[in-house]
Amino acid sequence: MESKIYAQLIAADDFGGSDRQSSTRRTFQGRPFDLAAGNKMLTTFSGRKPSQNEFELSSFICLLREYSVQSYLEVGSREGDTFYDVVSSLPIGSRAVALDLPGGMWGKSTTGNQLKKAVTALVAKGYQASYILGDSTADNVVGSILQMPRFDAILIDGDHRYEGAKKDWLNYAPHGSIIAFHDIVGHEQAEKVHGNKVEVPRLWAELKDQYGVVEFVDQGSAMGIGVILPLEIK
Ligand SMILES: C[S@@+](CC[C@H](N)C(=O)[O-])C[C@H]1O[C@@H](n2cnc3c(N)ncnc32)[C@H](O)[C@@H]1O
Repeated sequence: MESKIYAQLIAADDFGGSDRQSSTRRTFQGRPFDLAAGNKMLTTFSGRKPSQNEFELSSFICLLREYSVQSYLEVGSREGDTFYDVVSSLPIGSRAVALDLPGGMWGKSTTGNQLKKAVTALVAKGYQASYILGDSTADNVVGSILQMPRFDAILIDGDHRYEGAKKDWLNYAPHGSIIAFHDIVGHEQAEKVHGNKVEVPRLWAELKDQYGVVEFVDQGSAMGIGVILPLEIK
């Protein structure tokens, strides 16, 4: 895939070094290359319309590869499409956990089976992939995750309300090195079922000046991926 191109463009040093406290920020905007040919982001594992922007997700995956990520937690995985794309771009044997509450905010009650299929396909490819269906803020779920070894990278993409995203940050960030959020731009984007607004930008605004971060935001995008860089990856 195009990760090699991005790897040349965005080497690990360009992400601001390895000090999470350094408060550096790099924002990558737009599409520096035409990714149309052969880019696997144009299709999803489930076959549904991608819920990620191609440039943003490709760039995020490139960053994970640059940092040699071999364990990944996704909080809010829905059908597992992003989970599948990210994990299948990591070295075979990498450990990955998808966490989702089907029917939660920004979700659908029917997605659990599709998520299982994505996880099963990753296991068949040789990944140590698993899933947890439950509320990411529930004590038993938090406890299950914290009992696992730490994760090289965590993507927070579950409840997009301010309090929900903040709980996920507080519960899981201490258990990961690279911490990323989806939907760091796009104020006022309402969730269709309950009308809740995406409030991740508010949380991101509070966090981004405290840490070394990278932002991937495509031209005209109402989503964006923000990445808080690691103190260290073991
Ligand atoms: C925007 S979707 C995730 C999309 C997915 N990351 C992708 O890119 O393919 C948000 C998901 O988070 C789930 N969710 C919402 N609140 C949650 C919670 N408290 N715990 C776990 N999952 C939650 C929703 O059910 C939904 O499946």
